[in-house]
Amino acid sequence: MNDAGIVTGVAVAVDGERIVEIGPQAELDRRYPHATRIDCQRGVLTPGLVDSHTHAIFGKPRYEEQELRASGLDYMEIARRGGGIHSSVRDLRGRSEDDLLDLAIPRLRRLAAHGVTTVEVKSGYGLTPDDELKSLRVIRRLGEILPMRLVPTWLGAHEIPLEFREIRDGRSEYVRLLVSTMLPAVSSAGLARFADVFCEPGVFTIDESRTILTAARSAGLGLKLHADELRASGGAELAAEIGATSADHLAAISETGIRVLAASTTVATLLPGTMLFLGKEKQAPARALVDAGAAVALATDFNPGTSPTTNFPLVMTLGVSQLRMSVAESVVASTVNGAAALSLADEVGQIAPDFSADLALFAADDVRELPYWYGDNRCAATWVRGRLCHPSSRDIVPYHQGRALAQGIDRMTSTR
Ligand code: NIG
Ligand code: FE
Repeated sequence: MNDAGIVTGVAVAVDGERIVEIGPQAELDRRYPHATRIDCQRGVLTPGLVDSHTHAIFGKPRYEEQELRASGLDYMEIARRGGGIHSSVRDLRGRSEDDLLDLAIPRLRRLAAHGVTTVEVKSGYGLTPDDELKSLRVIRRLGEILPMRLVPTWLGAHEIPLEFREIRDGRSEYVRLLVSTMLPAVSSAGLARFADVFCEPGVFTIDESRTILTAARSAGLGLKLHADELRASGGAELAAEIGATSADHLAAISETGIRVLAASTTVATLLPGTMLFLGKEKQAPARALVDAGAAVALATDFNPGTSPTTNFPLVMTLGVSQLRMSVAESVVASTVNGAAALSLADEVGQIAPDFSADLALFAADDVRELPYWYGDNRCAATWVRGRLCHPSSRDIVPYHQGRALAQGIDRMTSTR
């Protein structure tokens, strides 16, 4: 992970949707004399960033909880009082598919404006068959409207809904509903590529999570797990046991969990923005995970409760300053390993021949500036499958140097 393969003075040749070659600029200039040129000399070109963990389908924001936490109320306590995820669920159930779509489009555009070209998007604020399907249909329509690459995940197991918490045997009833009704509906409609569970004391237990994910695997879905976020409960071990593609959060992972994940093919996806926003002192033990040999990815966890940010480069900053990763490790975690966390490692996340031409251009002279100018947005442009994705309109104004670059790009592409 500490070798991001950073090179200078090179050009990237793109044909249609694919990267065909990367090599010395003079050589590529000679070989492709008729190619349209985009001058990136005053910038840093990276593989498009891969945000492998978001909950972007929600209605209203939940800013009132931020002050409650500041006054001493814990995240889980807010949930026990019917706030937290429950509050987003009440709100989403009352909204139409079109309304949710209108709310999600600008959010995903903001992610693209920060360099992201691939986004995993979860359902999980519906928690009824109809409302989960409604959320997943919104994700499908987003993928049709936006140029970004979207990966849909079914998170019907995000919470035990209040109407099930209030009745006897409600927990097992809800798990039955997930496995026998929701999962078959989701998979027969082809609306999700992954299934995910919030496995945490007070939410879904290890056994419930195993039941749900085993059924999802049989239905042909890839597996993800919200694991060991607030308390160690064996989530990382379960993710490895069932062959999950990723185990996410891991701020409270145990020593055994670290060993087991490192020995597995499961990607350890870390979400430092969440712990920052929740005001927690503890962050995931990224160094121990990397040093033990685990594949570590970084993602925003963009959601209304615990991480309302679309600023992926800021997450890279936290990767370096809070998780103590090197810049190279944080770049790899945001590209190659993010792609692996979505089973897309052969397709995106690298600037290499045969990979999709998913690229991000940053107004910077050195890659170390990406996490350095923290909270700033240096992204000047992104491309997905060789086509300009951001800026998509004049209302997104990048950093001044980037604006010059982006305008140049507009001119170039308009002559095609
Ligand atoms: O990843 N941990 C569970 N799910 C989200 C938070 C959801 C919410 O609070 O709305 C997360 O942090
Ligand atoms: Fe999450």
